[in-house]
Amino acid sequence: MKITKICCIGAGYVGGPSCAVIAHKCPDVTVTVVDLSQERIDQWNSDNLPIFEPGLEEVVKSCRGKNLFFSTEIDKTIIEAELIIISVNTPTKTYGLGKGRAADLKYIESAARKIAEVSTSSKVVVEKSTVPVKAAESVNNILSANHKHGVRYQVLSNPEFLAEGTAISDLLFPDRVLIGGPQTPEGREAIDALSWVYQHWIPMEKIITMNTWSSELSKLAANAFLAQRISSINAMSAICEATGADVSEVSHAIGTDTRIGARFLQASIGFGGSCFQKDVLNLVYLSECLNLPEVAAYWQQVIEMNEYQKRRFANRIISALFNTVANKKIAIFGFAFKKDTADTRETPSLYICKYLMEEAALVSIYDPKVDHKQIVSDLTDPAVSDKETVDKLVTITTDPYEAAKGAHAIVICTEWDEFKTYNYQRIYDSMLKPAFIFDGRMILDHQSLLELGYHVETVGRRL
Ligand code: NAD
Ligand code: UGA
Repeated sequence: MKITKICCIGAGYVGGPSCAVIAHKCPDVTVTVVDLSQERIDQWNSDNLPIFEPGLEEVVKSCRGKNLFFSTEIDKTIIEAELIIISVNTPTKTYGLGKGRAADLKYIESAARKIAEVSTSSKVVVEKSTVPVKAAESVNNILSANHKHGVRYQVLSNPEFLAEGTAISDLLFPDRVLIGGPQTPEGREAIDALSWVYQHWIPMEKIITMNTWSSELSKLAANAFLAQRISSINAMSAICEATGADVSEVSHAIGTDTRIGARFLQASIGFGGSCFQKDVLNLVYLSECLNLPEVAAYWQQVIEMNEYQKRRFANRIISALFNTVANKKIAIFGFAFKKDTADTRETPSLYICKYLMEEAALVSIYDPKVDHKQIVSDLTDPAVSDKETVDKLVTITTDPYEAAKGAHAIVICTEWDEFKTYNYQRIYDSMLKPAFIFDGRMILDHQSLLELGYHVETVGRRL
């Protein structure tokens, strides 16, 4: 089977960057990314890409209009492609059965139905979205129940492991590529066809193939293990604060054990992002449906610890500020869920703002990349606050010095590198005294801040 044309359904954080890299590395393949949203497609075709990701613009510009296209012509693109990648969103369900935990598969289903409706030739259909185990079976059922004469489908699982902020290097140099598929001659042929695409830049030994269900579960397992590490070190940070141990030293000490490894042991104000919580909850729901309540409870605790960490940090701010933040200006440095992205989905910064606003604090937010409209939209979500309260309590600035001027405290919520380079003497001089810094990301030089006169608090360490 020769792949000459790829259609990717879903031009989001995964579909856009991953297909840009495929096009960049496979000049012999035409890659078209389609989406229902005309606005998103227009942005992909403009100088202002819809997402900020280091290195993305260069990759897109190197092949856009040559073998990389962004389009809303979904039917035509599906018809022409031999390989179709489904990269649509799979958010946590907000209604009905499994509300608040199960993955909402309505976008996957509508993509599958669209493929079945318009295809006039056989296709390899690749599930790249993160899905519960056995989702490929549903996709397969929809396709085979609606197939046209002579049209055959092979459904593969090919989960994506990129992290935002490092998406391009993760895609160029992945630890591994995972492909799950049916263990039949046709299934193996489809796996080989997808594997051929990746072999343009990834060594064979890094392309792992397995059965479909193992592949689907491996994606949930990987995110659950990563999230669990963060909750584990955050649990340690609470013990450190209560005892005088230092969580950075504990991370270093355990991370040098090669069986544990050094990465993903950074204590924080809790993990954010669109996937960790969603995917762990997805695993919890799956375990419950499989009648495995102990397994469900085990993974649920990873989420509980994350909630606790966010709440605990907000409470520390309030208690350090003499148990009241009402009408006090508090500067929030960072709104994105991590550095080098403008994504705010499930950002811990939002929860810190919410808790402080509930105490009537005057919140002044600065983030180097997040759009102001996005911040307002997140804060006015009914689960967070309302427009009247936001208008009364929140200001959003484009200048960190402005955000801190006249403030009682600065709270570091995102680990942006530029926060380390500010003139903290100048900031100190403009703040009310005592001037507090709550470093939720442990990125600042605490000793020199103390010398300037700040009262400094951080995660997992008494100062
Ligand atoms: P996203 O919301 O940024 O993008 C999804 C896109 O799909 C949207 O633009 C939406 O308009 C489009 N879409 C939905 N239904 C469609 C349809 N029927 N036809 C055409 N377009 C449709 O989501 P994302 O962050 O790119 O995530 C996509 C999937 O990848 C999710 O399952 C997620 O769990 C997984 N994932 C995400 C990341 C990440 O870092 N964001 C990493 C690995 C895996
Ligand atoms: C994560 C995984 O790392 C990716 O492999 C996966 O593909 C992706 O989810 C997904 O499925 O969407 P992402 O959420 O983009 O990627 O970013 P991470 O670097 O994993 O960070 C997630 C959150 O954990 C951030 O809020 C970050 O600040 C926090 N974090 C991370 C910590 O608090 N401590 C750490 O040691 C690491």
